[in-house]
Amino acid sequence: MSFQSYLEQNSPRIGELIADYYAVDTLEDINRYLYAPLASYSANGGKRHRPLICELACGAVGGDTSLITAAAAAIEHFHTAALIHDDIADEATMRRGEPCLHITEGEGLAINAGDLALSQVTGSVLSDKRLADSIRLRVLEELVEMTTRTIEGQALDIGWARDGRFDLTIDDYLQMARRKTAYYSGSTPLAVGAIVGGGTEEQITALRDFGMASGLAFQIQDDLLNLTGNKELLGKDYRSDITEGKRTLVAVHALQHSEQRSELTAILASHTTAPTMLACAVEIMQDAGSLEFARDYAIGLVAAAKADITERLENNECTKLLLQMADFFIERMR
Ligand code: IPE
Ligand code: IPE
Ligand code: MG
Ligand code: MG
Repeated sequence: MSFQSYLEQNSPRIGELIADYYAVDTLEDINRYLYAPLASYSANGGKRHRPLICELACGAVGGDTSLITAAAAAIEHFHTAALIHDDIADEATMRRGEPCLHITEGEGLAINAGDLALSQVTGSVLSDKRLADSIRLRVLEELVEMTTRTIEGQALDIGWARDGRFDLTIDDYLQMARRKTAYYSGSTPLAVGAIVGGGTEEQITALRDFGMASGLAFQIQDDLLNLTGNKELLGKDYRSDITEGKRTLVAVHALQHSEQRSELTAILASHTTAPTMLACAVEIMQDAGSLEFARDYAIGLVAAAKADITERLENNECTKLLLQMADFFIERMR
């Protein structure tokens, strides 16, 4: 089975798992202003890859996957919070084909709903008494580390755009993207899956590193899709990284290599939404070889990550799917 069909077949199960966390309160207005909007936001789920790879990592080390539910839910709760808050920070309008939560509910209630999802990250694991205390504590440590790293990455991403920073290097970008995306989209889900599954320290490290490299590639693909993907398939704002002046890998490379650096700088600083200007920026990036550079960089990351892990895990169905995950991360169209 391909990784994509695996996600398609199993994502409804994650949707049901998450829906269970939205309590119905006896105070009707709490439902109206909090649980109901958050529940319907989460019901319109995305790919749900994070909880599913957490489960696969548990299986890849030969663990009991029935024990993974709380940790898997925690990671999806974190994603929910991250997206709600990210869309406010990025002034986004669309998410998963629908208006963002801050558009439908207003910023105040959206921030608050994201805060609830954040509290459910630790809450879901704390309240699962099936996990031994030592495992629960370790998973919580992982989740706190993941949360901190993501917030650090978001600070760089948002701060660089706010301050119109044009002095950044490829390495700066990699540091930022690892933090804002790779921890929570690859590295921590896989490490946590291996921890709950009772994997060896070597296996936990192998999966953590594999998730970090492929998670970084996932973000590079996200950058590329924003610039040159299919707008309808994406279901989120198109070319908004240019409007927002985001320092993506493509942009950083083009700022270093393009002969039209000053034109690109002007567009990135202008906050334009004019399609012709956005297309002009993409053309400058294309001419500088920056789209190709980013694509090749992501391909290289995935190839190295797969080569590194192949010998270090049990050769089972879960491992096979995880290897395909890395390819999916850079081939996906949404
Ligand atoms: C989007 O993540 C945010 C990033 C970390 C790039 P996904 O592409 O996993 O979003 P959904 O959940 O499938 O919509
Ligand atoms: C991804 O942010 C990381 C988080 C949400 C924490 P982006 O801003 O790059 O992702 P999209 O493109 O809005 O999904
Ligand atoms: Mg965003
Ligand atoms: Mg963002």
